[in-house]
Amino acid sequence: MPVTAYDLTGRTAFVTGAASGIGRATAVLLAEAGATVHCADRDPQGLHETATLIKVRGGTARTHHLDVTDRDRLRQAVTDCEGLDFMAAIAGVMHSSPVLETRDEDLDRVWSVNFKGVLYACQEAARVMIANGTRGSIVTMASGAIDTGGPGLLCYGVTKAAVVQLTRTLATEMGPHGIRVNAVAPGWIRTSMTDRHDSEAQARTEAFMARLSPLARVGEPDDIAHAVLHLASDASSFTTGQILRPNGGVAMPW
Ligand SMILES: NC(=O)c1ccc[n+]([C@@H]2O[C@H](COP(=O)([O-])OP(=O)(O)OC[C@H]3O[C@@H](n4cnc5c(N)ncnc54)[C@H](O)[C@@H]3O)[C@@H](O)[C@H]2O)c1
Repeated sequence: MPVTAYDLTGRTAFVTGAASGIGRATAVLLAEAGATVHCADRDPQGLHETATLIKVRGGTARTHHLDVTDRDRLRQAVTDCEGLDFMAAIAGVMHSSPVLETRDEDLDRVWSVNFKGVLYACQEAARVMIANGTRGSIVTMASGAIDTGGPGLLCYGVTKAAVVQLTRTLATEMGPHGIRVNAVAPGWIRTSMTDRHDSEAQARTEAFMARLSPLARVGEPDDIAHAVLHLASDASSFTTGQILRPNGGVAMPW
């Protein structure tokens, strides 16, 4: 496969969660690969910073200030993209509480962003791609939480397991249209989501997570952005319905 398979020149990408962390790194990398990148997030300042990062590198970015739980707003933004080729549904939130202390409102809030927000992005992107006859690609963001139990991870883990099921189901339904659908399930990545706001606690947590990895390190947003680029590009043209696990080897499911 020539390296040009990773070239996204002339393609259009839409990235949710683009104001920070994995979403920002993905938006910047897709733009470096040549795509026009539509950056969506509920954080306007972070969106502006991401768009600036893209533009100073010579790329093309558009911003959409929106909440992914607002289906109508998301539909409008996705429909407004000219010739959408790729959707990365990355926006997500963390929640940790023991099962016995988990409240309905916790579950509803996390479900609404991490599952419904991803579902809406997938649905709107797939509708546009089908209408345009585009053989596009959709990537969802799962998590290493799908591969293990962990105290406090009920709400978060349930939503990420649901994202995997959405991905597999949609892949089977979109295949006949030539649209590929895959998930990325990252391990522990340094972002604001994993920031402990205390340097000693941060160092302890990172040392613990690094010990679980054969590579003896935690991940960076760029590690995940490259996995997304692979799934966005023609380099993965025979890959659909798969869960890609850039997790440092922490979990190795069949
Ligand atoms: N950091 C990790 O270790 C890790 C591991 C596995 C999976 N993930 C997943 O990766 C994705 C990105 O996380 P991150 O680590 O970059 O976190 P992050 O907090 O840095 O970024 C999340 C982004 O999503 C946006 N967002 C949240 N709710 C939104 C909403 N309702 N509408 C629009 N935007 C919204 C935030 O404003 C933020 O810009 C999430 O889905 C997360 O679950 C992260």
